[in-house]
Amino acid sequence: MHIQTIITQPFNDQKPGTSGLRKKVKIFQQTGYLENFVQSIFDTLSEAGGLPTDATLTVGGDGRYYNRHAIQTIIKMAAANGFARVIVGQAGIFSTPAVSHIIRKYQTFGGMILSASHNQGGVHGDFGIKYNISNGGPAPEKITDEVFAKSKVITAYKIADLPEIDIDTLGETSFDGGNFTVQVMNAVQDYADLMQTLFDFPAIKRLLTSGFQMKFDAMHAVTGPYAQEIFINRLGASAHSLMNCVPSEDFGGGHPDPNLTYAEDLVKIMFSGETAPDFGAASDGDGDRNMILGKNFFVTPSDSLAVLAANATLVPAYVHGIAGVARSMPTSGAVDRVAAKLNIPCYETPTGWKFFGNLMDAGKVTLCGEESFGTSSNHVREKDGLWAVLFWLNVLAQKNTAGAACSVEQILKSHWTEFGRNVYSRHDYETIPTDAANDVMQHIKTQFASLPNQKFGSYAVKTCDDFSYHDSIDGSVSHNQGVRILFVDGSRIVFRLSGTGTEGATLRIYLEAFEPDSTKQSVDAQGALAEMIQIALKISQLKEKTGRDTPTVIT
Ligand code: G1P
Ligand code: ZN
Repeated sequence: MHIQTIITQPFNDQKPGTSGLRKKVKIFQQTGYLENFVQSIFDTLSEAGGLPTDATLTVGGDGRYYNRHAIQTIIKMAAANGFARVIVGQAGIFSTPAVSHIIRKYQTFGGMILSASHNQGGVHGDFGIKYNISNGGPAPEKITDEVFAKSKVITAYKIADLPEIDIDTLGETSFDGGNFTVQVMNAVQDYADLMQTLFDFPAIKRLLTSGFQMKFDAMHAVTGPYAQEIFINRLGASAHSLMNCVPSEDFGGGHPDPNLTYAEDLVKIMFSGETAPDFGAASDGDGDRNMILGKNFFVTPSDSLAVLAANATLVPAYVHGIAGVARSMPTSGAVDRVAAKLNIPCYETPTGWKFFGNLMDAGKVTLCGEESFGTSSNHVREKDGLWAVLFWLNVLAQKNTAGAACSVEQILKSHWTEFGRNVYSRHDYETIPTDAANDVMQHIKTQFASLPNQKFGSYAVKTCDDFSYHDSIDGSVSHNQGVRILFVDGSRIVFRLSGTGTEGATLRIYLEAFEPDSTKQSVDAQGALAEMIQIALKISQLKEKTGRDTPTVIT
């Protein structure tokens, strides 16, 4: 096998964000751009102890434009950099949770996920690449920081002269007298098998074949084939339970983000009155996010996490209880209340799944989640969209037996009666000029000394800070993880700049208030939070500084 060393120039913008490196496809298409980043990952790995002689790399993506090209390059570079084997999903496809599972099941050295998640795809859309370590989870900051450092000084990359690899035919192809092997694997099978070990498939099958209507929207993205195998082939759901299940390179021209704005086709169906299905769900580009809907009812992701934690023992995998829970800081405190009642620990981490890995590896938490439509458990080290959908179906199956009917809305309402309701909303201001976004954040921080004890209408500020996280497992500290304004009555406003956007800046405002009185819990979140929204705008001067009157997305 002939290995070429290609001289290259560094790029200065290869800093991984909340979840890997995401850029416009056009940026990735620059000569050497992808190669530099991949080589910087390999250089970081070899410096951190090197590869074992039988090192295997798992590679797959969400099928977006540039996926196939990137996979060919990564395979050739893996061969040149000492990997003995690459496992690649058929047609280059693997959902993010499936990659995590494959890494764990086959104990591969690590994996590369090719996705920009919920960002738009196609030639004019985004592409992304993320490295996951041997526990199946996203590389922690000490690795991503090192990759960035290496990318700034890189001078050459290594690539093997291999023919174009057939990634569409299942099976193995060996090169260099068996020293390097590419294994094309069914992308769905192992993942579907794993789900079957966690959930009560016979009970879910009874539910789905007894008149209970569900609608799952894969948003033209990676979960389509997984949904087909799991819901139709294994659980007996009818074909019209699925929509948009053929993955496309540009996600049908849409935005594969399962929220009330971008999953509008599904939302219309689920809010169509009495004839709406009983249960609706959607997942994102790479299959790690989920949105849960009931008949004319939306479940906030923060509430979803709390409901799953409270009902975990209804699911075979968690029948003996859960060790603990974790949520990202901006996620509502609904799950904290469940943890308190179950007498298990609840951890608050910065935004991004990479912060949960240490806690799960140490056995401290079983379930974790984020307000951004991410929930999962220690079965993998990524968030997992279909897992959340199956969890909900399993809970519904348990609560809809022997003639008893229980809707998604009823589950939420009785949850709120028991635990109180954390009324919650997130307002996103997308693609605002970076300078204006920084100015807003700076303006809030300059008020840190004067805000405490100030009154704004019916709210009084207790404290404010810029969130820092101390990882109790590895001792690392992460600063500047979002500005929090905490009020005396327990309400809070959080301001944070997105770390996943590729154009300008995205400013997120997270709003939360607690309502213990069950007679007042059936309120519309925007109405209940209206005064806090005005306070957030006043303190941040967001309208004045960005010229934006309304958020791009409200969740
Ligand atoms: C967003 C979400 C965050 C999630 C990440 C990756 O990051 O807010 O919770 O982990 O996408 O899916 P952000 O754009 O806010 O940095
Ligand atoms: Zn995603």
